[in-house]
Amino acid sequence: MHGIIFSELKRFVEESVGNGKWPVLLHEAGLARRTYLPTQEYPDAEAFALVAAACRITRLPAATLLESFGTFMVPDLVRLYGSLIDPTWRTLDVLEHTEAAIHRVVRLRNPGAKPPELVCRRERPDEVTIFYRSARKMCGVAIGIVHGLARHYAEDVAVQHGPCMNDGADECVIRVRLSAGA
Ligand code: HEM
Repeated sequence: MHGIIFSELKRFVEESVGNGKWPVLLHEAGLARRTYLPTQEYPDAEAFALVAAACRITRLPAATLLESFGTFMVPDLVRLYGSLIDPTWRTLDVLEHTEAAIHRVVRLRNPGAKPPELVCRRERPDEVTIFYRSARKMCGVAIGIVHGLARHYAEDVAVQHGPCMNDGADECVIRVRLSAGA
C-alpha cells in the first residue's frame, strides 16, 4: 500500500483520536517505532493491523472508521494529485473519471501501488454507480472519499451501498446521487 495512505492515517489518528496517539496505535498494532514515508510502499498487512488496532482503541466498527478516514484524506489527495483533476469537474465527474484519469496514473507513477480498479458508470447527469472490487475490501474508504469530494465541491450527495464484498459479494455496488438543488 502506498505510503501516502500510511502518512494520512497517522495524521487522521493524531487529529481524530488524539494528539500523541499514533505511537500508542503502532504499539497496539505490533509495529512499535515503525516509520512510514509517503514516497514508499508498505505491506497491506500493516495497514490492516493499524486499522484493526484503531478500531480496538476507538471502539468504532471498521466501516465507520474507514469512512471517516476516506473523507479526511480528500483535501490532501486533491492537493497532491490536483494536476490530474480537470478544474471543470465536480463530485460526480471526479468519480466518473477516477479510474482513467487518476488511479491509472497512480499505478504508472508508483508501480508498487495498487489502487482499486473502479468501474464507475454515469447513469444520469445526477447519478453515478461505482463498482468496487479489491482484495483489501476497503469500501468504507471509497464511501468516505465520495463524501469528502462532495464536501470539497460544496455539493450534497446521497450514497447507497448495495451488495458488499464484506458480506461475501464479488464486488461492492455504491450508488451516488446528487441531491436536488445541489
Ligand atoms: C482525488 C482522487 C483520488 C486520488 C488521488 C486517489 C489516490 C489513491 C491512492 C494513491 C491510493 C493508494 C493505492 C495503493 O496503495 O495501492 C488509493 C487507494 C484507494 N482509492 Fe483512490 N484516489 C482517488 C479517488 C478515489 C475515489 C473517487 C475512490 C472511490 C470512490 C477511491 C477509492 C480508493 C480506495 C477504496 C482505495 C484503498 C485501496 C483499495 O481499496 O484497494 N479513490 N487511491
